[in-house]
Amino acid sequence: MKILVTGGTGYIGSHTTVELMQKGHEVVIVDALFNSRAEALDAIETITGKRPEFEQFDLTDNTKVDDFFSRHTDIKGVIHFAAHKAVGESVNEPLKYYRNNLVSLINILESMKKYKVGNIVFSSSCTVYGEPDADNLPISEKAPIKKAECPYGNTKQIAEEVLEDSVNAYKTLNVIALRYFNPVGAHESAQLGELPFGVPNNLMPYITQTGYGIRQCLKVFGNDYDTPDGTPIRDYIHVMDLAKAHVAAVERMANGKMKKQFEVFNVGTGKGYSVLEAIHSFEKASGKPLNYEIVGRRAGDIVKIWADPSFTNNELGWKAERSIDEMTKSAWEWEKAYRQGKTKFKVEE
Ligand code: UFG
Repeated sequence: MKILVTGGTGYIGSHTTVELMQKGHEVVIVDALFNSRAEALDAIETITGKRPEFEQFDLTDNTKVDDFFSRHTDIKGVIHFAAHKAVGESVNEPLKYYRNNLVSLINILESMKKYKVGNIVFSSSCTVYGEPDADNLPISEKAPIKKAECPYGNTKQIAEEVLEDSVNAYKTLNVIALRYFNPVGAHESAQLGELPFGVPNNLMPYITQTGYGIRQCLKVFGNDYDTPDGTPIRDYIHVMDLAKAHVAAVERMANGKMKKQFEVFNVGTGKGYSVLEAIHSFEKASGKPLNYEIVGRRAGDIVKIWADPSFTNNELGWKAERSIDEMTKSAWEWEKAYRQGKTKFKVEE
């Protein structure tokens, strides 16, 4: 199958592209390279032996999106990753987030309708659940959607509504929204991994960069929460397990296995780990203590959330396989390979 992967040079998009290509699918990537690097294409080629097709443009430009679909009439499905995703930035620049994340989705849906492309997998997030009530943990897809904590989270909620309204109106459209928990880790080749621009916002790249000495000290945002060790709990999921969930989703659509036109799946492991547990797992992987200090809480952080993945396991036929130790180990191997110049990515300060 030929699949359009938007945001395919980004962290999750590039790993998913590898998995799709290794399953025999043909991938065409569209990415504006706002928050990713073209070297991801070289890395994908190194791993798979094939280079995905690539076009660089901004999906908020409707003329370009239309032109793209008019030239690629053999596309059988879309996986839409391309979006801005920094929580803090979205608070300061909400319009940037609403424009980019929503206009691009609407443009894609309009072209899919016009050019009769039926299937789209959408990158959603467990952020739509907000802070779950204690009796809703582990959290299932049936849990209530709470008011979003930030504009970024709101774009994911609104996008799900746009998609649901669209399937109700357009009978040719099928949608699977995957609600990711916390993706971490890297491809086992260490040729591909998470590589944020500048100072990382997320825990795992901050940990690996501190482990390598790029950052002096990891700040742990609060140890006075209502959890066993006082630090927040997340459902960390290996990015390659997440990649496989996308392949399962596109194949479910293509094989006519959907039960409804709009389906939602949690993509998590079902296990929660605290920040300190994630740090200790990394220390095992690297074989040395990590320099960290406890500081004050970060505004807007959820205290604890982990998935009930049973619906996804049973219905999508997908299950996360890799442990937290495999996640931190692969993230560490990637960080070292990248810093030592052993990958296709240019080493940045
Ligand atoms: N953390 C630290 N120090 C850091 C970075 C993170 O202690 O330097 C802690 C956070 O306080 C949190 C945990 O590590 O307790 C995980 O934080 P991340 O930023 O890695 O992930 P979040 O769960 O906050 O955010 C993720 C995604 C968002 C999404 C959000 C809610 O990155 O896109 O989940 O679904 F919105």
